[in-house]
Amino acid sequence: MSLRHRPWEEAADFQIGLKPIAPSAWLEGGETDPAARKDRLFADHLGLVWAEAEASRPAQAEALEMVEAALGQVAAASGLPPLYAAARLVPDDLCLMEKRDGQWRLTALSLSAGSFFTAEEVIGRNLAELHGPVTGFADLFLVRVQRIFEGLRPGLVLERRNWTLLNSDALHTPSSSAIRAQIDEIKPSQAAHVLHLRVERQTLVRLPRTGGVLFTIRVWLSPLSDLVADPERFAAFAAAWRNATPQLRAYKRLDLYDDLVAGLLAGA
Ligand code: HEM
Repeated sequence: MSLRHRPWEEAADFQIGLKPIAPSAWLEGGETDPAARKDRLFADHLGLVWAEAEASRPAQAEALEMVEAALGQVAAASGLPPLYAAARLVPDDLCLMEKRDGQWRLTALSLSAGSFFTAEEVIGRNLAELHGPVTGFADLFLVRVQRIFEGLRPGLVLERRNWTLLNSDALHTPSSSAIRAQIDEIKPSQAAHVLHLRVERQTLVRLPRTGGVLFTIRVWLSPLSDLVADPERFAAFAAAWRNATPQLRAYKRLDLYDDLVAGLLAGA
C-alpha cells in the first residue's frame, strides 16, 4: 500500500496537478496513532512543528470541526490550539491559509513531516513567499494558484501529489543537510533499501464559515526495493528518472543520487 501514489509516472516537470476527488476520499487515514508521533515532536521541537498567527483561532476551530465531521470522531477536550487538536486525529500535516490584507497567508500549521522547512520559518508567508525556492513558480503558477484559492467551492476537495528521492526513512525532516551528508557512505548493495521515494499527497478544501483554506500534506515513504520487486513499476520509475526536466532534477538534487540509481537501473 505504500506505493498507492506514483506521481513520477504522471509528469516530468513541476505542475499544479490539482484534481477534484470524492469528498469521502479526503483524508486517507492509515496510521494507528498519529497523535503519539506528533505529540513527541510538539513537546521536543515546538518551533519546528507548530506555529500560529494572531486571530487564526476561529478558522482553526472550523478546520477542527471539518476534520471531526469527516472522521465521525470528536477530539478530546484538551486546551490545545484547535488546528493542532485536529492534526492529532490524522496522519496528515495541516496548514491553514487565510486572506490577510489581500494576500493568502499561512496563519497556522501543524507540521510533523515537513520536507526541508519548519513551521517557524514559514508562518505568515504568502503564496509567493512560500514558493520562493520553487523554480519558475512566480512566473508559471502563482496567478493560477491564487485564483484557485479565490474560487475554491465549499464541498470540493482538490488533490495533488509530488515526489522526491531521499536517503532517509524519517518523516520529520526539517533540514536536508544531515541527510545529504550521508549519501557518500551508502554502499551500492544497500541503495535499494536506503533510498526512499517520498511522496506528498496534498489536498485543499474551503472553510465556508471563515473563508479560509485548509491545505493538508500526507507523506508516504517507501524504499526503492519495493519498486525493484515490481518490474513494470520499476521500468516506469526508470523512465521518470531519465525524463525528469533539468529544473526538477536541480530542485530535488536528484544528481546526488544518480550513481546509486544508475547502479540499480543497470541491475534491473
Ligand atoms: C494550489 C496549491 C499549491 C500548489 C499548486 C503548489 C505547488 C508547489 C510546487 C510545484 C512545489 C515544488 C514541489 C512540488 O512539486 O510539489 C511546492 C513546494 C512547496 N509548497 Fe506548494 N503549492 C500549493 C500550495 C501550498 C500551500 C498552501 C503551502 C503552505 C504551506 C505550500 C508550501 C510549499 C512549500 C513550503 C514548498 C517547499 C518549498 C521549498 O523547497 O522550500 N504550498 N508547491
